[in-house]
Amino acid sequence: MAVTNQPARLVVLISGGGSNLQSFIDACGGDNGTGRLDAKIAAVISNKPDAKGLERASQAGILNIMVDHRAFDSREEFDANLGDVIESFDPDLVILAGFMRILTTDFVNRFIGKLINIHPSLLPAYPGLHTHQRALDAGDAEAGATVHFVTPELDGGPAILQAKVPILADDNATSLAARVLTVEHKIYPAVAQWFCSGRLQMTNGQAILDNEILGQTGRAFSQDNER
Ligand code: GAR
Repeated sequence: MAVTNQPARLVVLISGGGSNLQSFIDACGGDNGTGRLDAKIAAVISNKPDAKGLERASQAGILNIMVDHRAFDSREEFDANLGDVIESFDPDLVILAGFMRILTTDFVNRFIGKLINIHPSLLPAYPGLHTHQRALDAGDAEAGATVHFVTPELDGGPAILQAKVPILADDNATSLAARVLTVEHKIYPAVAQWFCSGRLQMTNGQAILDNEILGQTGRAFSQDNER
């Protein structure tokens, strides 16, 4: 994005607990341990009325809105309405933070290049749901999370940053999900900072960081490269 003196404007979409949202709130307020995010959360939008993340937004004094998908007759109508609400905030970056909806191609194309997602697997492995159980069932030694640009293909857009965690012998889906979340909270605001500082963009369907085309799994997270 074009860098100006104004902090970048973020719109964050959630459906649930909002722990990733919290990592953005913390990073926008100062260094959350992985570096500061020079941005402002203009609005948080949930498609579910009972999403705990709405409370987190309220507590942080951030405008929060519920757009209940059940109030619409079709996916297309919901996405069109959601898109209008997002656009009214004129965001530089739209962040899917546990937003559990399949998005229409029209919606994705409306925000393409400034729409990012975090997915709890080492993409391209395990797109879709139940990622932790699938990694356990497969006997994998590692799991993790991937931040990627969103394209119309479900969980298929170009990867930006990927973090791995070990799978332990006594893990179940809950314990593994908790371990993966700890790295999600580090990598997601870090990617947003790359974007907001003009270092990251999507061009011709590829993720480009510091003028380098990223490979299929994006940059590998290490404590040194998140800034
Ligand atoms: C996170 O693990 C995120 O990666 C996942 O939902 C969780 C939301 O947690 N997203 C997806 O599965 C998207 N396909 P949070 O509400 O505590 O941030």
